[in-house]
Amino acid sequence: MECLVCNGKTEKFIDFGMQPIANAFMTKDQMGNEYFFKMAVAYCPYCHMVQLTDQPDREKMFHENYAFFSSTSQYMQKHFQDFAQSIIEQQGLKDDSFVLEIGCNDGILLQNFHQAGIRHLGVEPSLNVAEAARAKGLNVVNEFFDKELALRTSREHGKANAIVSANVMCHIPYIHSVFEGVTTLLDEQGVFVYEDPYLGDIMSKTSFDQIYDEHVFYFSVHSVNYVASMHGMEVVDVKPQVTHGGSMRYLIAFKNQKEVSVTVKEVLGREEKQGLNHHETFLDYGRKVDVIKNDLVKTLSDLKVEGKKVVAYGATSKSTTVTNYFGITPEMIEFISDTTPTKHNKFSPGTHIPVRPYEEFHASNPDVVLLFAWNHAREIMEKEREYMLAGNRQWLVYIPEVKLVEP
Ligand code: SAH
Ligand code: TYD
Ligand code: ZN
Repeated sequence: MECLVCNGKTEKFIDFGMQPIANAFMTKDQMGNEYFFKMAVAYCPYCHMVQLTDQPDREKMFHENYAFFSSTSQYMQKHFQDFAQSIIEQQGLKDDSFVLEIGCNDGILLQNFHQAGIRHLGVEPSLNVAEAARAKGLNVVNEFFDKELALRTSREHGKANAIVSANVMCHIPYIHSVFEGVTTLLDEQGVFVYEDPYLGDIMSKTSFDQIYDEHVFYFSVHSVNYVASMHGMEVVDVKPQVTHGGSMRYLIAFKNQKEVSVTVKEVLGREEKQGLNHHETFLDYGRKVDVIKNDLVKTLSDLKVEGKKVVAYGATSKSTTVTNYFGITPEMIEFISDTTPTKHNKFSPGTHIPVRPYEEFHASNPDVVLLFAWNHAREIMEKEREYMLAGNRQWLVYIPEVKLVEP
């Protein structure tokens, strides 16, 4: 397959077979009618970008019933408050500044600029979450961000002092159109700041479940710098984040406008040591994932034989890769508990495990709780500690390895 960034010939390193849309939680009558696509990941030895070889059409993933609402996590609300604050301070943003967010979802990040009185615009193609943001008083256009939208926006609103985005850039295969849009819209002194799950963590933690339909790119500083330089920009700073199991925030500016921090050099050096710019590093990854697969399936089968009741926690997109690639079925897990109303009383994509409201979690009295939302482990384990202790219950985790954990 040709690289989406540089057109070089990429090297495939895991083939997941046919996979469904990760966020397509469905009702009973939608069941026989599911869409599957060929999912595999590849590494490009020329620009170092790790990427999906195929991706479903964007309208199949982002539409008026998008299942993920950003504001379900308290921790993420605080995280995005700090994100906004750091940009406001660093760029000295004022009322007459202009901030644009690509993929604002329900407004979890953008609301902080609004509350600080800064002129803002959110771009969000999924109508239901866009409406949730509008209900908070935010200005949102219900469209996909690309070069053409950026041109219209700059005519209407002028140049942007900051363009921000979180967990969205990795979703967009037409990355050159996005960068062309950014260079059209951004003020010469402005910054483009985005964060996404980081390839370094996906490799070191074997967090393979970040790989699913929506995530077309798995970024490193090497690959981001490569794309940015194709558009006259450069990465001027990077900040590791604990969110989504390990993310990286990239601060990108027009070339020679801002000083490049020493951290960029340091992280590039670390990436070289980790081998993120060498094909051999990726060859062994599939085998590591298969170890997790065998261990998790064996543990679930053993628990079943012992007559233990297993319930899962968090109907994440990530869990769609886990259940479908590993063959985890409703016989192994009674249901998945989740706090998102739009997922309630639906069934998981491909594997059809029921999703039940959080209110039913405690009443279900499980022996073991499989933590699908492992990226929120700290928040969730703290919240459930007493309940887990009271019933002698255990957590079952699988990243970085399969383990039963006492509360
Ligand atoms: N920023 C939020 C939401 C991430 S989910 C957070 O970090 O929690 C990804 C979001 O990207 C979805 O809301 C989806 O509708 C949006 N998206 C997908 N493609 C997009 C595009 N081309 N332009 C803008 N948003 C896009
Ligand atoms: P998340 O891991 O953020 O996303 P992804 O879909 O990108 O893998 O999703 C977390 C899911 O877990 C979301 O559906 C809400 C749910 N959740 C709970 O049910 N309880 C909680 O305490 C938290 C933090 C999340
Ligand atoms: Zn490439």
